[in-house]
Amino acid sequence: MNNAATGRVAAIIPAAGSGVRLGAQIPKAFIELDGISLLTRSALAMSRVADVIIVAAPSDELELASQQLTNVDAEVHIVAGGQARQDSIANALAVLPDDVQFVLVHDAARPLVPVEVTNRVISELQNGAVAVIPVLPIADTIKRVDAQNNVIETVDRNQLRRVQTQQGFTRETLHHAYADPTVVATDDAGLMEVLGIPVLTVAGDELAMKVTTAHDLQIASALLGVKND
Ligand code: CTP
Ligand code: MG
Repeated sequence: MNNAATGRVAAIIPAAGSGVRLGAQIPKAFIELDGISLLTRSALAMSRVADVIIVAAPSDELELASQQLTNVDAEVHIVAGGQARQDSIANALAVLPDDVQFVLVHDAARPLVPVEVTNRVISELQNGAVAVIPVLPIADTIKRVDAQNNVIETVDRNQLRRVQTQQGFTRETLHHAYADPTVVATDDAGLMEVLGIPVLTVAGDELAMKVTTAHDLQIASALLGVKND
């Protein structure tokens, strides 16, 4: 039952990481793919559905972040990020406008997320879900190993999923999850799990891959050619 369907949609983009594993001289969000930064690409993707975009940027690069967002058609806010991704998102949540109903949290490091993924997440929020995450199945066989690298067992991969962003939440749910800073998780849905909040999965897309390493950047470059939305 969705009785507040008139509220706006916001996207929070955590972009404050330094990109240690990528190993570039500049923060990862400012790395370009075909002349357009990961941050700009992610913000443009979010602007297709979001009325408000809040970017958590590296604290010494707020001006550069602002320049990168000049052509993004949304109400844009830029805040300084924090020590960990969760801190960056908490800083962004602090400036969330009151009339926002749904919040999408989307990594700047996933520049090619297709609008179909966004639409699937929003659609389940409109259907009444309070937390929705895009996932993909796992193709490889998965083994559990011990500290000596010996195999303990094969894990049943049918129940396992790879998790992507954007992750979508009702504003109340996300505020609730971030109310206690001592609750820590590697993604926002992880906070929900700790609090016993139900999380629904929808189909993700290989295009929503995360740029973590230099190899990922090459893959993202190649995927640019197949992206057609
Ligand atoms: N992020 C953030 N604030 C942090 C750390 C990460 O906003 N303190 C953001 C990153 O900018 C990225 C997303 O969270 O868009 C996912 O994080 P990750 O891919 O790990 O990026 P980095 O932390 O920059 O990379 P690394 O872990 O290799 O340093
Ligand atoms: Mg990181």
